[in-house]
Parts: sequence; structure tokens; C-alpha cells
Amino acid sequence: MDPRVTFRLYVTIGLAVALIGALWALADGSASAGPGGHATADAKVAGIAEVAMPQTATSLPSVQLHATAASNPCAQTPVQQALASGGDDAVVAAFGGGAAFRAAVAAGNAPCIDLSDPHRDWVVVNKARPLSPVTFAPTSFGDPALSVDGAGSLRSDTANALNQLSAAADAAGVGSVALASGYRSYDTQVQTYSGQVATYGQAQGDALSARPGHSEHQTGLAADVVSCAGGCGDIDSFGGTAAGAWVAENGWQYGFIVRYVAGQTPITGYDPEPWHLRYVGVPLATAYHDGGFATLEQFFGLAAAPAYLG
Ligand code: DAL
Ligand code: ZN
Repeated sequence: MDPRVTFRLYVTIGLAVALIGALWALADGSASAGPGGHATADAKVAGIAEVAMPQTATSLPSVQLHATAASNPCAQTPVQQALASGGDDAVVAAFGGGAAFRAAVAAGNAPCIDLSDPHRDWVVVNKARPLSPVTFAPTSFGDPALSVDGAGSLRSDTANALNQLSAAADAAGVGSVALASGYRSYDTQVQTYSGQVATYGQAQGDALSARPGHSEHQTGLAADVVSCAGGCGDIDSFGGTAAGAWVAENGWQYGFIVRYVAGQTPITGYDPEPWHLRYVGVPLATAYHDGGFATLEQFFGLAAAPAYLG
């Protein structure tokens, strides 16, 4: 072939290749900078989401909690082991936490949880649920650091929790909290109840004091408390003190609920008692607080207990 023709052919092919390359580059650039750029960005976000979603879904505890509450948690080995070991917090944890525990019990899906077991943090004692046995007494006792004369003891863990609550209240600037009345035996409750009835009559006495065998104080888990800022007040003034407000707001962080609050007499059968704290342990108290519950009966899906059955 004529060398000049060959040269022109090479030049033509070269120009064609260069032109195709330029057009390719232009198309690619416009896809990134123009509307096509959004498509590219969206695709990247979608790609990240597709990768992230399965990880998030598998790590969501609520997915596991619902499954736990909906099935029978009592059939699960961790729950059985925790029940056998005797640690109440461990049992609640094995259920998946306080909210899951509550949901399973309230739904009737936890036959291994006995709300009548007075050794357990979750025991419910009210006018329709006497202690069993009726003369029950706790097996451990502890004296809180601060108490007024004649206050008595509490179950050891409850005493420790009250110490922590009192120290936290003091640190928060509302003063300390002292025990005014803790564990009361069946016989002591005979005296307490009959004294209230003698003073106020039967109906009012029943709104103020539990009949023997029906008081949370007999479990060692109930603490009537007073505010101590300088001197100590009495239980009747506690609700109006800074410590009373603080305890109502923060007591759950130490495992306590205010058991008899205003507006709940038709369920509890008792007048409001801002001073009567009930220890249920931190996991259950947290679920109680977070769920906005006002009575232990509602918390566990139990019937109201405004009056004695017999
Ligand atoms: N005051 C409470 C209700 C009790 O006697 O246990
Ligand atoms: Zn009390």
C-alpha cells in the first residue's frame, strides 16, 4: 500500500478512537455531576442501608424480647438455671429484662413465676393476696444506716438499697432518708392494725393499715421512710418534703416504687402513702417507671384489690 494512504488511514483511525474516548469520558462525567449524579449517590445510600439493615435487625433486643414474651420463657434453660440459682435479678435478666418479664407474666406466659412467693422481689401482697404462709418471715435481715427509734430491720438487700437511695438523695441536696418502719412480723401487724382501727374505726383503719398477713411490711421489702434534713420529720409530712418529691421521681433507680399513690385507692384499697416504698429490684422498678405504671396490680395484670375477699 502507498505509504501516504497508510499514514492517512492511521490518522483517521486514531482520530476516531480519540473521538469515541472523549464522548465516553463526557458521558461518564455528566452522570456524576448532573441528575445522574443523584442516581449514583442514591445507589450508594441504598447500598449502605441494605448492608446495615440486617445487622441492625439481628441486634435489636426488642425482637428477641417479643419472641421471649410470646413463647414460654419458663421452658428456656437460662430462665430455669436462674430460678434454681435464686437470684431474682438474674431471673429477670434471663427473661430479657424487666419489661419482657412483666409482659410475659401479665400475658400469662410465665407459669414458673409465682407472684405469691414472698421470698421473691416480684411478690404481690394486697387485700386479695395474703402472704403464704400467713405467718411468713424473711430469712435475711439488715439494718439501714439511718433509722428512727423502733424502725426495725429490712431484708438485707432492701436495707442496702435504702442506704444507696438515702446517700443519693443527700448528694442531690434534698437531705437523707431514714427508715421509720420496716419489717413487721404477723404479731406486730396485729398491734399496728388494731391500733389504727381503735383510733379511726374499721373503715378508715382498713384504708390506713393492712390486716395481719396482708402487709408488705411482713415481707421485709417495704420501708416507711422519713426525710432527715437537720432533724427527721415524720411519715405524714414526707410527701411534702423535697426528699419526698425526689424519692417519687428517682426511687426506681435504687429498686423502689411508691406502692400507694394518689388516685389508686380503688385498686390498692389504701389511702395514698408517699412514704411507703416497696423494693422490687432495679430491673423491675425500671420497667415500672419506664412503663408509667401506678400500681403493682396493673404492672402484673392482676385484679384490683380494694377490699378483703372474706
Ligand atoms: N400501711 C400499709 C398499707 C400496711 O399496713 O402495710
Ligand atoms: Zn408502710
